Amino acid sequence: MQNAVNRIGVLTSGGDAPGMNSAIRAVVRTAVSSGIECIGIRRGYHGLIAADFNPLEASDVNGLMDRGGTILYTARCNEFFKEEGIQRAADNCRYMGIDAVVAIGGDGTFKGAAALSKHGIPVIGIPATIDNDIACTSYTIGYDTACNTAVELIDKLRDTMKSHERCSVVEVMGHRAGHLALYVGIASGATAILIPERETNYETDLFEPIRNGRLGGRTHFTVVVAEGAGPASEVAAKIKEHTGIETRLTVLGHVQRGGTPLVRDRVIATRMGHSAVHLLAQGKFNKIVCFNGSKCTDVDIDDALNMTKGLDEDVYAILNETVVANR
Ligand code: F6P
Repeated sequence: MQNAVNRIGVLTSGGDAPGMNSAIRAVVRTAVSSGIECIGIRRGYHGLIAADFNPLEASDVNGLMDRGGTILYTARCNEFFKEEGIQRAADNCRYMGIDAVVAIGGDGTFKGAAALSKHGIPVIGIPATIDNDIACTSYTIGYDTACNTAVELIDKLRDTMKSHERCSVVEVMGHRAGHLALYVGIASGATAILIPERETNYETDLFEPIRNGRLGGRTHFTVVVAEGAGPASEVAAKIKEHTGIETRLTVLGHVQRGGTPLVRDRVIATRMGHSAVHLLAQGKFNKIVCFNGSKCTDVDIDDALNMTKGLDEDVYAILNETVVANR
């Protein structure tokens, strides 16, 4: 069967995520095996506007699996959301014979991709963000690696908190969502996990469990705060003020976005990249590739942008009987 596209572009946009390189590799390799040319677009939508294009052959993506970050660079591009910027980007695609664009990133990336599709350039989105906050998919590339990085660092913090009998307040990323904080908090056995999806009652959610823990002989505590539920500095100050326990704040920050991608991210990124190219080859345009259950599926991009992702209630529900009961 003839391919519906002959030449495609690929870009990464928004915050980087471990596994983006595996996705780029899969897009390029799958395109080459299907007889489709692939063009790398640098610095996300800036590159589309500036026509910063670079042909990618199969050998250009050698040795990428274990590399964090993105070889295509990434950016957040406000110019793209103005009519003039999108028009120029679409014209550049047409001029360069780019039939469709694979956009790897998060929500902002998909809004840009949807706008590009309205200007006549077909798109496919691949969800990649450590926040795991894309509604149409249960998993976004980079999440597992970021969770593991945060947990490894909290494990180290715990050693020193134990020695000094302190409380460690750790702020993790996640933008406006608490998925990262919830998983990291559970995996590190935190005393409390504060997330933006749930209003915090300082007395019952924090002070009481810390005081009770203290009475029961516990000498050190870990409190995980999602950046969207912060500021964590305020949480730390309140714990000190209301419990008298010496408290230290650690903002993990951008370290969570770096590092060698773990197997889950490498494999899901590869499956998503492969699926994106097959959709384009079949003329199935303007979709987001999703990973639900154990399968890659796809959702119309406009529908995907209208969905909202709630908290994983099943996971949240176990907190009361595991984290809380062990305070
Ligand atoms: O979306 C990924 C993310 O790391 C969020 O968790 C965080 O809020 C944001 O990006 C930080 O963005 P920047 O790197 O632009 O400071």
